[in-house]
Amino acid sequence: MHEFDYQNGRLYCEGVDLAELASIHGTPLYVYSEKTIKDNFKRLSSALSDLDHRIAFAVKANSNLSVLKILNDVGADFDIVSGGELFRVLKAGGSANKCTFAGVGKTREEIEYSLKEGIYSFNVESEAELRFINQIAKECNKVAPVAVRVNPNVDAKTHKYISTGKSENKFGIDFEFIENLYSKASQEFKNVQLKGLQMHIGSQLTEVKPFLEAVEKVSPLVEKLKVTHGIEFFSIGGGIGIIYEDALASGKKDWWDNKDPNNKPLTVEEYAEKLIPTLKALEIKILLEPGRYMVGNAGALLSQVLYKKIGTAKNFAIVDAGMGDLIRPALYQGHHEIVPLIQDAKDNQVVDIVGPICESGDFFAQNRELPHLEEGDHIALLSAGAYGFVMASNYNSRSFPVEILVSGNDHHVIRKRQSYDDLIRGEEL
Ligand code: LLP
Repeated sequence: MHEFDYQNGRLYCEGVDLAELASIHGTPLYVYSEKTIKDNFKRLSSALSDLDHRIAFAVKANSNLSVLKILNDVGADFDIVSGGELFRVLKAGGSANKCTFAGVGKTREEIEYSLKEGIYSFNVESEAELRFINQIAKECNKVAPVAVRVNPNVDAKTHKYISTGKSENKFGIDFEFIENLYSKASQEFKNVQLKGLQMHIGSQLTEVKPFLEAVEKVSPLVEKLKVTHGIEFFSIGGGIGIIYEDALASGKKDWWDNKDPNNKPLTVEEYAEKLIPTLKALEIKILLEPGRYMVGNAGALLSQVLYKKIGTAKNFAIVDAGMGDLIRPALYQGHHEIVPLIQDAKDNQVVDIVGPICESGDFFAQNRELPHLEEGDHIALLSAGAYGFVMASNYNSRSFPVEILVSGNDHHVIRKRQSYDDLIRGEEL
């Protein structure tokens, strides 16, 4: 569910007319709905209410300070992957003891910083890292709380770049090695506390089966480690997929019920219902690390058609946003629904929506049937709240877009558009 919908042929986010927003602030422009983010958190939380659980928002999905503050205020914890993300959480009013620190390549500086701030747990991804954390903790005269990330070797059935739970992926430690590692760690690494076990099999999962398979495979190990090492939590990672096609319709309250029952997208209610029995039986705190689910459908990227070009093979609409603003189509063949900010009655057209960047991969849609667009018209690329702005780059020396948060009828700039001076800040002649 989300808060993007047409009112009298004009696209609104909550109570704000997006064509007006684009004319005030210019494009490219990221817009987020506060209500959608809060609703998503509440919905997942209530689906899991039977379980002793904590929801740690995966900051990598959207790390704007205002977004983090909203989630902190509703009671989320955070899953971070860098010192920079910890810094952001702290700036947004969160605390380190609500953060789990994941990632395969933590540096000395990041580990020291996290220990100093009092991190809830490091999610450790190799024996070498565990040894290093132990050494640093010893130097700092501290005990580092850790959870090892287990790689359960389960196929998440998602894009290969965002699949993480197979043995050939760089993430986690093979299932078969975990018990030995916990025994070794408890004997040799006196400056770590084995606090939990963690896994994450991939992102944008659209069915519950791989989650269930992984949970069922790893649960017996959790039970053992609870007895042998007194672990306190089991983190089942993130990965809940969102709607990209039919994204506008997914905002409609009754949409889930109307959908073909044999072809329904994954809902958090189904996710919870299927996983809770196995997880509850573990009698241990369950952590989740959703990123995309929490913010994906809460955001859109607004852009304007600069030029139209009719070719012999194709028709192009060249827009002012590019792969530097939203890289998902170029990198993962990601689909984002594209809709005009103002509807009209003209016929549809088949078109490529492309950006201004000097790369053929700089496109948002190819051969897509879309409502007729004229030069100057505005469009919204929907479901862009997760892995949108956070993956932006300044390639071609193009400034980062402005980010705006809508709350009811109000809107606030939560990150200014970069100026040319911002672009060269830190550089020297
Ligand atoms: N936990 C860990 C350890 C992760 O690596 C990730 C995502 C998450 C949680 C959150 O996963 P989510 O709930 O958002 O699926 N840029 C890609 C997605 C990369 C995901 C990386 N890891 C995209 O745009 O599809």
